[in-house]
Amino acid sequence: MCGIVAYVGYREAYPVILKGLKRLEYRGYDSAGVSLLDHNGLQVYKKKGKVAQLEETLVGQALPATIGIGHTRWATHGEPSDRNAHPHRSASGRLAMIHNGIIENYAQLKKELQNKGYIFHSDTDTEVLLNFIEDIREKNECGLEEAVRIALKRVTGAYVIVLLDQENPGTLIAARKGSPLVIGIGKNEHFLASDASPIIEYTKEVVYVNDYELAILKEDELILKNLGNEKLTPYIQKLDLELAAIEKGGYDHFMLKEIFEQPHTIYDCLRGRLDAKSGQIVMRGVDNHIEALSKAERILMVACGTSWHAGLVAEYIFEELCRIPVEVEYASEFRYRNPVIHPGDIIMAISQSGETADTLVAIEKAKEQDAMIFGILNVVGSSIARASHAGAYTHAGPEIGVASTKAFTAQLTVLTMVALRIAYAKGTISQERYLHLLNELEQVPAKVETALKTEEQIREIAARYADARNMLYLGRGYNFPVALEGALKLKEISYIHAEGYPAAEMKHGPIALVDETLPVVFVATRDSYHEKIVSNIQEIKARKGKVVAIVTEGDELIRSLADETIELPACDELIAPIVNVIPLQLLAYHIGVQKGLDVDKPRNLAKSVTVE
Ligand code: F6R
Repeated sequence: MCGIVAYVGYREAYPVILKGLKRLEYRGYDSAGVSLLDHNGLQVYKKKGKVAQLEETLVGQALPATIGIGHTRWATHGEPSDRNAHPHRSASGRLAMIHNGIIENYAQLKKELQNKGYIFHSDTDTEVLLNFIEDIREKNECGLEEAVRIALKRVTGAYVIVLLDQENPGTLIAARKGSPLVIGIGKNEHFLASDASPIIEYTKEVVYVNDYELAILKEDELILKNLGNEKLTPYIQKLDLELAAIEKGGYDHFMLKEIFEQPHTIYDCLRGRLDAKSGQIVMRGVDNHIEALSKAERILMVACGTSWHAGLVAEYIFEELCRIPVEVEYASEFRYRNPVIHPGDIIMAISQSGETADTLVAIEKAKEQDAMIFGILNVVGSSIARASHAGAYTHAGPEIGVASTKAFTAQLTVLTMVALRIAYAKGTISQERYLHLLNELEQVPAKVETALKTEEQIREIAARYADARNMLYLGRGYNFPVALEGALKLKEISYIHAEGYPAAEMKHGPIALVDETLPVVFVATRDSYHEKIVSNIQEIKARKGKVVAIVTEGDELIRSLADETIELPACDELIAPIVNVIPLQLLAYHIGVQKGLDVDKPRNLAKSVTVE
């Protein structure tokens, strides 16, 4: 979702901003723009389409400015078009602004401004906010910083804004509420961005701006204030991130690179935490709160999309191992309900980006009811990480492909460790089963490595099914959420309509869809539901459906029934989802590639959904 980059310093701002916008492309966008300020004044260049198209229009132009702002827009108010693209210019032409988020009361502000004679050149809420700021500045005859502060007190919604002022050529003013903003601190230069990826090439020293904070940046000065105009001390952190982690490293797509990184990312997730030999799991975030976690009367998992699927798998695991009732909630529903939260409840917020607006607001709501928030998060220092009381990072590294892959398996790995740690503390697991599962977890990276060897076979299967119009994904028990995740991946990457269902539920409706044109993917590895799922496969075959089955190696019975079988190493059923999802990720990827689609940036999707 919208990407923001800004620069002030001694370098030419345009190349820094352009490169930064390219690094943020993964977030999803439909238009791009920059505004630069030099001795000729303020210029704005913007274009519908890719950053490369904007770049083309500027080839050969002298752009010497050393201060500027850049933006990739993901349309909310108004269609993707040149005129709705950011930056926007104020009515007087003096200010330019970029914005990420949604101004909810923009219609009312717009009316007020129109009554004063303002004319708008776009359909955006951004242009309204910018002119609202300008109007306050002119009416109050105050500085821009004060006008921003006054304006933001009247605004409802979420925002990150960055402003350039022709009358103040060396200064950037930025503010944040709800959407992410990172400041990079260099020597005689400052950077601003939606995440650290445009910054790490230049500096590893960063400050994460908090809600209701204002940053005033010059090349050699950073001032942080709250909306009450009080100065704050910036908390400077060192990024633990290398440039290679955000580049493709020889793969055709980030998605493929990230799928193949999984043996390594899962290993990183286990490293230093799990020791099967000594039978220990050490997780500081869990250990420090083990009493509250063990006494929890209920766990509410709050998440969206793939992270929600991780929560569903965890529901089975926590209930089985810890005997704690679990509810898994879509954050977008939870935040608007009036949920009943008891003092002994724990809210687990699961999020790769740590910036998903619905999840963030959901936990803020839960905090109002004194709930303890435990985050399962990938991005260190993200908004949800900072809003949580405790948690565990997944250590999967930056996930650039829009479709979540390595983050999902890392979430499952962390959630399983957390459940095992709590179960051990509560005494709800036998020593034998505990040690067995620790051993199984330790073997996951190797088993995922083996699962990745199915790629060639999956590429061939993908060629046979790439023309399908619909697909059904079925699984039972721990594999039911895996089926949901497989269907989501296919939808996102190949635009084929796909549904995930618990296999037995199929008889209550979806079976009406089955005929010789419908491929049905079964996640049918050997577990306590095996016989049942074999019957479900037979039900599909009896109606001439095509069956693609993910099975445990050596499963001759399913091989004799299915049209395609993909064999995976044997796993304990509780751990199996981490391995079983691999072929489903590869299937979605290869179908997307065969259809010639942009798998890293599927249409309409954004990597981190920072608006509701
Ligand atoms: C699916 C996908 C999305 C995200 C969802 C939550 O491939 O990427 O469904 O899982 O938007 O995002 P996070 O985990 O960042 O909160």
